[in-house]
Formats: sequence, structure tokens, C-alpha cells
Amino acid sequence: MPVSTSVLDSILVTGGAGFIGSNFVLQWLKTTDSTVVNLDLLTYAGNRGNLASLDGDPKHVFVQGDICDADLVGSLLQRYRPRAIVHFAAESHVDRSIVAPDAFLRTNIQGTFVLLDQAKKYWSGLNDSDRAAFRFLHVSTDEVYGTLGENDPAFCETTAYAPNSPYAASKAASDHLVRAYQHTFGLPTLTTNCSNNYGPFQFPEKLIPLIILNALEGKPLPVYGDGKNVRDWLYVEDHCSAIRTVLSRGVVGETYNIGGNSERANIDVVTAICNMVDEMRPESSARPRRNLIAFVQDRPGHDRRYAIDATKISSDLGWKPAEQFESGLRKTVRWYLENAEWIASVRTGAYREWIVQNYSERSAL
Ligand code: NAD
Ligand code: TYD
Repeated sequence: MPVSTSVLDSILVTGGAGFIGSNFVLQWLKTTDSTVVNLDLLTYAGNRGNLASLDGDPKHVFVQGDICDADLVGSLLQRYRPRAIVHFAAESHVDRSIVAPDAFLRTNIQGTFVLLDQAKKYWSGLNDSDRAAFRFLHVSTDEVYGTLGENDPAFCETTAYAPNSPYAASKAASDHLVRAYQHTFGLPTLTTNCSNNYGPFQFPEKLIPLIILNALEGKPLPVYGDGKNVRDWLYVEDHCSAIRTVLSRGVVGETYNIGGNSERANIDVVTAICNMVDEMRPESSARPRRNLIAFVQDRPGHDRRYAIDATKISSDLGWKPAEQFESGLRKTVRWYLENAEWIASVRTGAYREWIVQNYSERSAL
């Protein structure tokens, strides 16, 4: 028998102590009155410090736990009775998926399955109106589409899946599970596939924060291969506003591509960061920082180009990115220069071990 009580106005966010998840939680609580239940395992990539400004806020309920734990997920759904799940939790770094793919299959595939299955059980027990209003929003990546040639059209929602890294393959598998739960069981799902994000709170293993910190500290700036790989950069706050848009107006069962209209070659991104750090921290013997650029051995299977065609979300839902790449990058560089304490807190022993593991054997080109 369906439960007849009404669903509370909360949402369950997974991975809300990571880079994008924490930006989303902060933006959500700034713009709405509803509670966020934040389920995060606090792996190396999760950091409670990202959410320090919410300390004491009763609308933020933090739960340290694993999305693969079905009992925990089921009990959280019964206890908090959310109207939506926004699923960010994942292993997210391509280089780590090449070194050690196991955790990617576990969290990204098994974890998404557990969430879907527990969501289905919870959703089936809701009354008619709450069941109709419930949403499961799965946050995915453009990397599921594989790689583009220089003149290929950008990825759209009907581009065939062709994942190339273990990370991309695990995200593609999770997207397919989401699709299957919608198609077979009617679970009201939405999927978003976005391009590379950048902005505050990004863990400094990814290109932009790694280069900012190395430039600041006068260390070599590792650029893989010839530096001409292209990514389509999306400011994280634009991504979060797109997710809110899809959650409120997206059509159940649909997927939406989200991009920043900012294709840039890696070498141009790195050079722009060097120039900004030179300008903001001129008192350094490391100037000009572009002299620190070091071309190093390429990532195996490195995708050449990603680009998003965001026509669907723009024309169907009226969303567009607000940030230009240069202004977003400037804000990001400034944020890292002004948040030395946060940086020190995330650069633990495990972080330093990863840097040695990933870069020490990459010979210079
Ligand atoms: P992130 O690595 O910064 O954060 C991931 C978060 O998930 C961390 O807080 C971590 O503790 C948590 N987590 C990991 N395993 C967990 C588990 N088993 N149970 C509970 N929590 C767990 O990742 P991000 O960059 O914020 O990415 C968020 C989502 O967006 C991911 O699904 C990723 O695939 C997707 N995405 C990211 C980008 C990007 O540029 N960063 C681009 C496209 C898509
Ligand atoms: P990254 O931030 O790891 O994101 P993704 O692999 O998901 O696109 O890398 C962005 C681009 O920068 C990618 O083409 C790989 C490249 N890259 C470097 O050249 N040097 C680095 O040290 C890193 C981490 C990435």
C-alpha cells in the first residue's frame, strides 16, 4: 500500500563534499529554504572544509557514508523522505582511473546501482502526487561520448557513447543504468552530461588548480603531450545553476548536455594562468611563469577534444552559462591565491604521494 504522508521538502545530495557537489550545496542553501541531506564518504576528494560556512545550519545534514551501502541509503530515504536525489558522488579523475580503476567501477557503477535501487523502493511507496513529483538527477560527463576531431560537430544528446578511459566507461555504465531504471520501472530520472568544470574548491589534481598552485610556487607546469588537447570549460556555478534548472523543469527520462561555450587548448589555458599569476603575484623570481611550462609524456588514450552542443538545455529550458572563460578563470586564480589554508588542508600525505606517482615517471618531451 502506498504511504499517504506527504514528502518533506528536502533533497538528498550524494558527493556534496566534493568540488561540484559542495558548490551545489552552497548555492542551493543560498537560494532555497529546503534542507539538504548530504551523503559523502569523504574520500581523498571530499572535504568538510568546503562546507565550513554551513556549520551550525540546521538545513544542512551531513552524513559520512558510502553510496554502496544499501542499508544506509535506504534508511536515509525513509528517515528524511526527500523529494529528489541529486547524485554527484563518484571517483572523478581520469589519471587515477588509469592507475587504479577498481574504485571507479565500485563507486560509479555499483554505487549508482545501489542508489537507483533504493530510490525505486522508496519512490514506489510514495503517494501518487509525491511519486509524480519525485526526481532522481544523475550528474554525468561529456567523456562518455569519447573524443572529437578538430572539425567534428560538438557532442549532442544523441551522439553515440564511445567512452575511452576507465573513468569514462564507468560513467557510461552508470548512465545506462539510470536509463534502464527509467525505461523499465518508470523511476523519474534526469541525466546531465557536462564538460570540464573549474572554480573554487576543485581538488588540485585537476589541470587548472594544479597549474595555479605550481605557478604560484615556482614549480614545473606539466602539460601532457603537445598541449593541443581541447576541453570546453564550464564555470562550476554555471553548472550548478544548470542542474537546478534541469531539476525543476527537465522532462523525465531526458538527458541534457551542459557546456560553457569555452573551448580552449590546454596550452592556452596554462599560459593564461601563468599571465594571471604573474599579474596578481608579481613579486617572484619565477616570473614569467610561462617559462615553467614542461611538456611531459602524454596520458595513455588521451582524448583529443571535447566540445558540448548545449542547444537543447538552452532552447527547451532557457539555461545559458553566465560566465565568460577569462573572467571565470580570473575569479578562480584569485580564489586559490586567497585560500592558502584550504590548500594546506587538502594537500595531505596521500595527495603528495599521488603527485609523485603521477608525475615522477613522466619523462620530459
Ligand atoms: P570530486 O572527485 O571532487 O568529488 C567526488 C565526491 O564524491 C567526494 O566528496 C567524495 O568523497 C565522494 N565520494 C566518492 N566515492 C563515494 C562513495 N562511494 N560514497 C559516497 N561519496 C563518495 O568530483 P567532482 O569533480 O565534484 O564531480 C562530481 C560529479 O560530476 C561526478 O559524478 C563527476 O563524474 C561529474 N563530472 C565532473 C566534471 C569535472 O570537471 N569535475 C565534469 C563532468 C562531470
Ligand atoms: P583534467 O583536469 O584531468 O580533466 P579531464 O581529463 O577530465 O579532461 O585534465 C584536463 C586536460 O589537461 C586534459 O587534456 C589532460 C590535461 N592535463 C595536463 O596536460 N597536465 C596535467 O597535469 C593534468 C592533470 C591534465
